[in-house]
This record gives sequence, C-alpha cells and structure tokens, in this order.
Amino acid sequence: MYTHLQQRDSDKPPVTISTLEKMKTEGTAIACLTAYDASFANLVDEAGVDLVLAGDSLGMVIQGHPTTVPVTVDDVVYHCKAAARGLTRSFLVGDLPFLSYTTPQEAMSNSRRLMQEGRAKMVKLEGGAMQVEIVEYLASRDVPVCAHIGLKPQSVHKLGGFKIQGRDKASAKQMLADAKALESAGADIVLLECIPNELGAKITSELKVPVIGIGAGPDVDGQILVLYDILNITIGRKPRFAQDFTVGGRSPIDAVKAYVEAVRNGDYPAPEHCFS
Ligand code: KIV
Repeated sequence: MYTHLQQRDSDKPPVTISTLEKMKTEGTAIACLTAYDASFANLVDEAGVDLVLAGDSLGMVIQGHPTTVPVTVDDVVYHCKAAARGLTRSFLVGDLPFLSYTTPQEAMSNSRRLMQEGRAKMVKLEGGAMQVEIVEYLASRDVPVCAHIGLKPQSVHKLGGFKIQGRDKASAKQMLADAKALESAGADIVLLECIPNELGAKITSELKVPVIGIGAGPDVDGQILVLYDILNITIGRKPRFAQDFTVGGRSPIDAVKAYVEAVRNGDYPAPEHCFS
C-alpha cells in the first residue's frame, strides 16, 4: 500500500528533504532536536520538531560516557529503531559513529543498517574535505547525507577537547571550502557546530542546501540541540549554546514547543549562546 501518498494528504504531512529545502528558500527556520527512544521521539514530533537526530550524543546522555567515541553502530541502530517508532511527521537522521565510515564500502554498509534496520531517512557523518569521497559514494547511491563540520565531537581526543572551531582566518576559509566541497559531493544538509556567528552566516549564505547550526549563531537555516539539554536533565555542565526550556515549570512537551517557537521566531539562539 502507498502509505506515503495517504500521509502526504494529511494535515501534518511527513517532512522530507524537499520540505527542508523549501523551508530554507522561504526563510522558515528549521527546528531540530535529538531523540533516542519512541516516547521522546513522539513527544518532539507532537511539539512540531521538523528533524530528529538519533545522534551519537546518546553515548554521553544515555550511556553516561564522557565522549561519543565508545558508541557503536549497533547502539545507533537500536536507538534509531526505537525513535522511528515514535515519529509521524519529523524527518529522522541516524548518526554514523566514530570510525564506522573509514572507507566508502564501510560507510555504505553501516548506512544500509541505519536506513534499513533503523529506518533513518538520512545519515550524518563528521568531517570536512577528507570525507568528500565517502559523501560522493553514498550520495551517488541515493543515500541522503548530512555532513557535520566545525567542532567534530568524534575527534575530541585529536582536538584536545571540545573547542570552538574556525576562529582564525585560515581555518574559517578552510571550513567554508570544506562546506562547499561537501555540498558539491552531494551532501543534502550541512551541520555546523561551535563556530563564530559570522562564519555560520557566511557558510549559510554560500550554500544552497539547508545549514543547521549548534552553537553556530542565529544566521543559519535551522537549529539543533540535544533534547536532554533543553529539558535540563543532562548530568553535569551543559555547553554554552544549550538553553533550559523548562524554566517556569514547563512540562516536557511545553518545553519542546517553546523551543520550536523560539527557533522559528529567532529568539533562540540569544547572544549568550553564541561565539565570536
Ligand atoms: O550526536 C549528536 O547529538 C549531534 C548533535 C548534537 C548535532 O551530533
């Protein structure tokens, strides 16, 4: 049965890549969040979140590790599957974890798992120009790809910590070139993490594909945060770009609705969530 045709005619049709592209063109900010299980996925879907990421941040917020490095493909497939069962409208992206895409063939077989077993509609991978070959390989075989650049949490041990990226002229120039190369290779979304506002704005204005930011300032096409940060249930210190949306005693669903509204009307991110 062609259920997608029935869903397309519903009052809340499922978000597709075309929806996200149209939102960029029309200037409607895209609201994105992570979710790792059916109940929370259903809650964020109901609250109007456009894109849900079953991210490898699950290693930190669910498994309690200090980094995302220990996360495996099996872990992401498990959480993707669970999140997919809770979604009706939101677009599900599955994260390829650390060292699960070292060759085009490995990237393809793990993307197959995220899409066929996990029911993700897109895969996300971290890396700049060095991932062009992988992105080309996946994109030319119709695997939708989100390319994550700027701060790459999987590289934390190489970087020596979770640090702001693209602050000097040379690295900003390189990041812009990487973003363009990834778009040319077929990336459908570029995600920017922890970079100065000005660079986020520049990359967004130069790319045709939607650009989603996390700590990348207000002038991107959409925002993403870790769900547990906005619900203020993350253990320990939260990143500067995180905002607690439960203030005033909001319920979880009201907190997520407040986040979606703040993203749409530009109230989030505020200057205190940004970098220069
Ligand atoms: O794994 C994750 O949740 C992410 C987002 C924070 C962008 O990569």
